Amino acid sequence: MNDDWIKDKVAIITGGASGIGQATAFAAAKRGATVVIADIDEKLGKETSAMIYDKGHQCHFIPTDVTDKRSIADLVLSASELGPIHFLVNSAGLQTYGTVETTTEEVWDQTMNINVKSMYLVANQVIPEIKKNTGGAIVNISSVQGIRSQKNVAAYATSKAAAIALTRTMGLDFSSEGIRVNCICPGSIDTPMLRFGAAQHGEENEVLKEWGSSHPIGRVGTPEEIAKTALFLMSPDAAFIVGQPIVADGGLGSIIL
Ligand SMILES: NC(=O)c1ccc[n+]([C@@H]2O[C@H](COP(=O)([O-])OP(=O)(O)OC[C@H]3O[C@@H](n4cnc5c(N)ncnc54)[C@H](O)[C@@H]3O)[C@@H](O)[C@H]2O)c1
Repeated sequence: MNDDWIKDKVAIITGGASGIGQATAFAAAKRGATVVIADIDEKLGKETSAMIYDKGHQCHFIPTDVTDKRSIADLVLSASELGPIHFLVNSAGLQTYGTVETTTEEVWDQTMNINVKSMYLVANQVIPEIKKNTGGAIVNISSVQGIRSQKNVAAYATSKAAAIALTRTMGLDFSSEGIRVNCICPGSIDTPMLRFGAAQHGEENEVLKEWGSSHPIGRVGTPEEIAKTALFLMSPDAAFIVGQPIVADGGLGSIIL
């Protein structure tokens, strides 16, 4: 398949300054998309878009808080001036820890707002643009923790399960209008988010090795592997896939112990 389906079309990647979003921004830009990185981290956002641009691709950074609908309105207006918006990848997210007993209401709300309400808020304003431009695709980044859980992640796991349900309803609501919506449920992926978590438990690389060995495949995943899955879901190769959680976890979610 050639890249006509994505060439010169705007792909908004929330959380595109780091980790999975950054790798997806790179992958989409390499295929010819006009990438818009929407991230709250201005320093990393500028550095990432400059890095992609310097490699000869189209990439812009628009500072955005995905929990704030006025900030999203600015994003959508600026992105629409760069070309027709056809794609959205919702990768902005936050890992939090705690049981229902130890999680404060503030952390609970923050986790829900960044990990799942943002998907609604951004899609709410981007979908009319995609419709105007006669279709496209949305990929939400959930987690294998939306399906299976470890201990001490009450808010995070709940937000990721909600993202799967949201994806399903979005898929049902918009597929007949030419917008396919799916989500990815990654296992542990080597990103700054995972490394931050690992550093709480010991020497980062050692902890990542240990976490990797709990995945049947024997290692943690790379952001590029998730980016490839996102590009597949965005592409016409995935034309008949609607509202699905695609698990990319090295087998982690399939084991009992
Ligand atoms: N890394 C993993 O092991 C893993 C596994 C499963 C799912 N995920 C999910 O993948 C997504 C990306 O995670 P990652 O590992 O790449 O993390 P990351 O921390 O490397 O990147 C997350 C990005 O989101 C941005 N962000 C946070 N709050 C924001 C806000 N309010 N507005 C705009 N941007 C905001 C951050 O600035 C950062 O650039 C998250 O939703 C995460 O829950 C990650």
